Amino acid sequence: MNIQTLLNTRIQEAMVTAGAPEGSPALVRQSAKVQFGDYQANGIMGAAKKLKMNPREFAQTVLTKLDLSDIAEKIEIAGPGFINIFLKAEWMSQEVARVLRDARLDVQKVTQPQTIVVDYSSPNLAKEMHVGHLRSTVIGDSVVRTLEFLGHHVIRQNHVGDWGTQFGMLLAYMERLRKESSEISMVLSDLEVFYRKAKECFDEDADFAVRARELVVELQSGNEECLALWDEFIDISLTHCEETYKMLGVSLKREHVMPESAYNDDLANVVSELDDQGLLQESEGAKCIFMEEFANKDGEITPVIVQKTGGGFLYSTTDLAALRFRQHTLGFDRGLYFVDARQSLHFQQIFTLGRKAGFVKAGTSLEHMPFGTVMGSDGKPFKTRSGGVAKLSALLEEAQERAYALVASKNPDMAEDELRNIGRVVGIASVKYADLSKNRTSDYVFNWDNMLSFEGNTAPYLLYAYSRISSIIKRAEVNIDTLDASILLNSDQERALSVKLLQFSEAVDQVATDGMPHFMCSYLYDLAGIFMTFYEACPILTSEAEVKSSRLMLAANTASTLKKGMELLGIETLERM
Ligand code: ARG
Repeated sequence: MNIQTLLNTRIQEAMVTAGAPEGSPALVRQSAKVQFGDYQANGIMGAAKKLKMNPREFAQTVLTKLDLSDIAEKIEIAGPGFINIFLKAEWMSQEVARVLRDARLDVQKVTQPQTIVVDYSSPNLAKEMHVGHLRSTVIGDSVVRTLEFLGHHVIRQNHVGDWGTQFGMLLAYMERLRKESSEISMVLSDLEVFYRKAKECFDEDADFAVRARELVVELQSGNEECLALWDEFIDISLTHCEETYKMLGVSLKREHVMPESAYNDDLANVVSELDDQGLLQESEGAKCIFMEEFANKDGEITPVIVQKTGGGFLYSTTDLAALRFRQHTLGFDRGLYFVDARQSLHFQQIFTLGRKAGFVKAGTSLEHMPFGTVMGSDGKPFKTRSGGVAKLSALLEEAQERAYALVASKNPDMAEDELRNIGRVVGIASVKYADLSKNRTSDYVFNWDNMLSFEGNTAPYLLYAYSRISSIIKRAEVNIDTLDASILLNSDQERALSVKLLQFSEAVDQVATDGMPHFMCSYLYDLAGIFMTFYEACPILTSEAEVKSSRLMLAANTASTLKKGMELLGIETLERM
């Protein structure tokens, strides 16, 4: 159990014993300043208000019921009724030693694992992945890793867009090339170019446009030749995605692809079920659902359209079918959707409608995890220098090149393969970390210099800190695993480092609950900073044996925590750079 949970439980119990209503929250937080101790409980004021008592007096009563003597050396009442908790050094040193010996760094598996569907990446296969797909892909993957580490049963769903009118145009273009007997897979090696050329034909050649429309109809009615052509296209496009995932170190595989087209046969059922339940209304020939929850201040409702005039189904219909599949077939307890914030209304409507229609159980939690846009320095969505959408694979190549040049300039004597490998790790890590470290709900500016900087909350800073600590440990030439020393917390720096180390599992929990990996990034950045301060004040290798062992253990614990944290972010570490 992490410290925060432990304190919450104990203080809440004491509050209830002291007369607070059952379930009154203790609201324990890490303290913002050292003078407020290590943790602060803020729940007293709220409970006292309910009891119509003076909060400081109530705090006094709570303290008489609270026994924290095993873990705290001092408890204080501060301000209007905060409780400040100062942890006990002996307890911390035992805990740090215990964490060091635990491969899971004291992060326990949850007692009640949930089945969690995570919908992420989900690009449209008509085009190549671009910078806009970075966020969903890397944030989703990091949350997936964190949830799995906690012991949940995670089901990845890559809800790729592989259906719709653009495919008619692409198939018509494939058909044309085939007639000219070009090698299709070669032409499709650059999907962006392929898409652009197909679009040109579609816009300029009327016969081509007619053929494209015919092909959509044929595709949807299951024409075999047409399906074969489409299969080939989808396969090549997915192969492109997989190359990008591999480069990025993202855990998505072919088996996680659950494309829009997989729901085709179910769409008519979804509509008729909604109809059976009396939820459907016809509006201008389209089948719609009007839900009061989505009325504006003038009472006008934005409807969910599930079938167009003429019979075509929509993105919404597919998402409703997916929701039902996830509940009935996958049996999820929690569904996380890592999708652009611009789709917020869509998801609020789908979730509300899904519940009304009984497609999901009442206890199932549905969470849209929105994210902001990747911006250029001009304040507009990020584009390449020539003004096109930035292809993700090209961007990742560039990152590796830039990182390589940077490390090569710092290490003129290093062998070429090692430099290339470091360039790869640092380049990819920089792009991922720049994205992961921002609060996902806000937009951020894509900036090479910032993300590749060795200063600040960046991947190079953390990777370098990790490699430096690893080299200190290596230089000590001792086997940490068999080192049986006690951890001495004689200085403020040793103490501060220990508290931080013991807070790792709180960062893990926060990422899992809120789906926000930036909490882990901030934690790791703080940890590395606290370690550096400790290292300046507390020499390791030159200290006498007992102190040296203790500090080495703190260093080893820091290294494993950094490594594990980076692993949960989906970032490789380097022993040397
Ligand atoms: N393919 C969609 C897009 O590129 C994202 C799909 C997200 N997932 C979902 N279940 N709707 O915008």
